[in-house]
Amino acid sequence: MSPDKNKFITFEGVDGAGKSTHLAWFAEMLRQRGHDVVVTREPGGTPLGEQLREILLNQTMSVGTEAMLMFAARLEHIEQIIKPALLACKWVISDRFSDASFAYQGSGRGMDWNKLKQLEQWVHPDLQPDLTLFFDVPVAVARQRLANNISLDRFEQEQADFFERVRAGYHKRVQENPHRYVVIDAAQSLEQVKLQLEKIIVSL
Ligand code: TMP
Repeated sequence: MSPDKNKFITFEGVDGAGKSTHLAWFAEMLRQRGHDVVVTREPGGTPLGEQLREILLNQTMSVGTEAMLMFAARLEHIEQIIKPALLACKWVISDRFSDASFAYQGSGRGMDWNKLKQLEQWVHPDLQPDLTLFFDVPVAVARQRLANNISLDRFEQEQADFFERVRAGYHKRVQENPHRYVVIDAAQSLEQVKLQLEKIIVSL
């Protein structure tokens, strides 16, 4: 097999969309096809990023602090994990990236979209995912899925109107840059979603 060309793929969606379940399977399918795959997540992915995740998911803070901590964790993640892996021609699959900051801190919490663009431009001026899979699901369905969780973090405890705004924020990002996204109908059954993902894997 010729050396692999790297790829940076991100998974996005509101809490309860089911993306994390599908990510593990998607990565395994790519590995079976011979790709060297790194699976990672945000906030997190590095020791410092995981410490920041703990704080972000549990402590109350202002939206500006929240956004800056998300991007601080991201900068660490890019420098320590994402860029080295891409340079080594690996495929990086990240459970969330900057789209989540626009959707959650921007649309969800009302932070100025332009300020987020400045942070994005500062933290990763020359890096964007090659492909983003947006797991789109009606908020009522996502909340129903979350209802089975024993403990909910600070974001998951938000009300339905917050998630409606987050979902709208993702749609806005898709509209701004449609060629980067594939929108997955995540309201379907696991098997039907897998069929959608299989088609994407073939196209890759
Ligand atoms: P997860 O539940 O998908 O692991 O993500 C953790 C939470 O962090 C999720 O509720 C979304 C939130 N989040 C943001 O608010 N902004 C961000 O930039 C990222 C990466 C995640």
